[in-house]
Amino acid sequence: MTQSAIYPSLEGRTAFVTGGGSGIGAELVSALTRQKANVHFVDIDVAASEALVARLQNESSDHRVAFTHCDIRDVDRLQQTIRDVEAEHGAIRVLVNNAANDDRHDWQSVTADYWDERMAINLRPQFFAIQAAAPGMAEAGGGSIINFGSISWKVALGGMPGYTTAKAAIHGLTRGMARDLGESNIRVNTIIPGAIITERQLDKWITPEDEARIQANQCLKQRLLPEHVAPTVLFLAADDSAGCTAHEYFIDAGWC
Ligand SMILES: NC(=O)c1ccc[n+]([C@@H]2O[C@H](COP(=O)([O-])OP(=O)(O)OC[C@H]3O[C@@H](n4cnc5c(N)ncnc54)[C@H](O)[C@@H]3O)[C@@H](O)[C@H]2O)c1
Repeated sequence: MTQSAIYPSLEGRTAFVTGGGSGIGAELVSALTRQKANVHFVDIDVAASEALVARLQNESSDHRVAFTHCDIRDVDRLQQTIRDVEAEHGAIRVLVNNAANDDRHDWQSVTADYWDERMAINLRPQFFAIQAAAPGMAEAGGGSIINFGSISWKVALGGMPGYTTAKAAIHGLTRGMARDLGESNIRVNTIIPGAIITERQLDKWITPEDEARIQANQCLKQRLLPEHVAPTVLFLAADDSAGCTAHEYFIDAGWC
C-alpha cells in the first residue's frame, strides 16, 4: 500500500504516541515521522523501539523521532514523560493513545487484581495522557487526540472481558473529553481498528482458519495491515479534519 497524502499542518508539530515500538503503533510513528512531525513515542519493548528509531533515522537525516522507555501503567511516569517532551519540544499537538494489551482470559478465573490490571493498561493511561497533554495543547491553540478503541466489543467477541470492557469505555472517554476540550480547540476522536494483522496477532491468536472467518465477515476480502490504519490517523491528526471531533472512525473493511 502506498501512502501519498502530505499534510503540511503536521510539519514540525510535536506528536506523542503510546505503544509506538511495534504493531500498529510503529506504523503510526513511521507515518507521522514521514510527515515531518517531531515524533516522540513510549513503549516497554526497548529492542523493537530502538530498532524503529534507527530505521527511521537511516531513512532520512531530516526525520525527528525519539523513544522513551515508559510503562504506561505507571501514571506518574507517563505524565512526567509527557511533561519532559513538552519541556524539550514544546506543546504536544497530536496525542495518539495507541498502546493496549489484548491478552485472552477466562471470565471465570478473573480476579479483582487482574481486572484492575486490564484497566490499568487498556483504559486508564488514555485518560491520564490526555490530562497531562491537554493544558499545553490548549495554550498552543489546540490539537488532536486520537484514542484507540476496538471492533472486538462491537462484534461481541468473547474470551477477554477485561479488554472489551475497557475498549467499550474508550468512546465514552472520547465523547466526554471532546466536550470538555472543544472550547480549547482540541479535537478528540476514536479509531476503531478491525482485525489488523500484525506479527503479534499472528504469533498469539490468529490462525489461518480465523483469518478466513474474518475475511468472510468483511465486505472487503483482504488482509488489513497497520498501513491501512495510519492514513486515517494522519487525517485526524492534521488540520484537514478541523471539523471532526467526538466520533469513531472504523478501519475494519466493513466487518462491523
Ligand atoms: N491489531 C488488531 O487487530 C486490533 C484490533 C482492534 C483494536 N486494536 C487496537 O489498536 C491498538 C494497537 O494494536 P496492536 O495490535 O498494534 O497492539 P500490539 O499489542 O501489537 O502493540 C501494542 C504496543 O504497545 C506496547 N505496550 C504494551 N504494554 C505497554 C505498556 N504497559 N506500556 C507501554 N507500552 C506498552 C507494546 O510493546 C507494543 O509495542 C491497540 O489499542 C489495540 O487495542 C488492534
